[in-house]
Amino acid sequence: MNVDHVATLRNARGGHFPCPVEAARLCMAAGADGITVHLREDRRHIRDRDVERLASEVSTRLNLEMAATPEMVAICTRLAPPACCIVPEKRAELTTEGGLDVFSPSPFLREAIARIAARGTEVALFIEPDPAAVEAAAALGAQAVELHTGRYAEGAAEGRAEELARIARAAKRARELGLACHAGHGLSYATIGPIAALPEIEEVSIGHFLVSTAIFEGLGEAVRRMKALIAAARRG
Ligand code: PXP
Repeated sequence: MNVDHVATLRNARGGHFPCPVEAARLCMAAGADGITVHLREDRRHIRDRDVERLASEVSTRLNLEMAATPEMVAICTRLAPPACCIVPEKRAELTTEGGLDVFSPSPFLREAIARIAARGTEVALFIEPDPAAVEAAAALGAQAVELHTGRYAEGAAEGRAEELARIARAAKRARELGLACHAGHGLSYATIGPIAALPEIEEVSIGHFLVSTAIFEGLGEAVRRMKALIAAARRG
């Protein structure tokens, strides 16, 4: 469960509510097997203090999503979360747009992977669902890959079967190479089934859809409760 967008809402008002750490607790109580946060360079949603608190409070598995920069590597190696997912990051993007370039990687990427892994953190690379990219991730020293499901989940319905087949081929290659295989981006109730059915995929990372759906599943109840409080106050 990715709780970044709980922080997006919090930051819209500049206060402490809604708190992503409290949301993480609720998600874990509901069965989430892990909590993911993306500490972006511009801190647009999750902030350093959130990650510090989650590192001590997440009782399942904290996955720190981050770019391979010296600043992020320093944070990750200090906190040593169970898992880290390295993503490409562009300042102007709305969300992570594509997989990492593992074919001509930045000179720092290999060093970042080695330094994070040396602290006992499992390092995944977020990549396009392509067997050649999986091989390149393994050659860079990653222990896991997260396959980008954005094109499958958000693309035109006609292309979905083909994109799913690409994901399945990449997942098989990951298993053959002994890498843990994760998947994520844009997944929803409508698109999770075929991904969850792939036996090689051990973990899915879902954020925007679940936080958005919580609005529709919870807003009615919040309005009912507020109306009841108003009515009670007026009765005296
Ligand atoms: N995986 C990665 C690497 C991501 O960058 C994101 C978006 O933060 C997700 C998974 C989750 O995507 P979504 O919010 O669309 O479920």
